[in-house]
Amino acid sequence: ADPDRRDFIHVAAGAMAVGPVGMALWPLINSMNPAADTLALSSVEVDYGKVQLGQQIVVKWRGKPVFIRHRTPKEIAEAVADDDAPLRDPATDASRHKPGKAEWLILIGVCTHLGCIPTFGTGDYGGWFCPCHGSHYDTAGRIRKGPAPKNLYLLDYAFLNETRVRLG
Ligand code: FES
Repeated sequence: ADPDRRDFIHVAAGAMAVGPVGMALWPLINSMNPAADTLALSSVEVDYGKVQLGQQIVVKWRGKPVFIRHRTPKEIAEAVADDDAPLRDPATDASRHKPGKAEWLILIGVCTHLGCIPTFGTGDYGGWFCPCHGSHYDTAGRIRKGPAPKNLYLLDYAFLNETRVRLG
């Protein structure tokens, strides 16, 4: 379906935003403290404010795709309703997002089977589907069917304000 096409907007700008500062500081930090540059590069600030309801963006973080999904009330309700379903990797929906921010689901976009990138909207559980070997994830990113052993992994992040989130 057409809306799904917009699931794959790659937001290079998120990573680019930290570029100039990182570049300016690089020689100094590099000579002062080898660990500091690694730390600086490990965090990425992303504009999430423009992600429409029912869409997601994919950003690159530490070499991996990260899904930032703006969930609809229906997606949230379906995920919560399945908290008591038999789950291979049990987790409540609430444990997979920040308190009071159920509409934002932020996950590492790598299938926990063998590492393909799942796509949203084509699985049996309304969430992601991994075409490589047929793993189905629900709208909380929990594995529901197929060979993947684990839910889509979470990562550390912090909402800085209503439009920016820092990953890592
Ligand atoms: Fe996703 Fe195998 S890598 S199902």
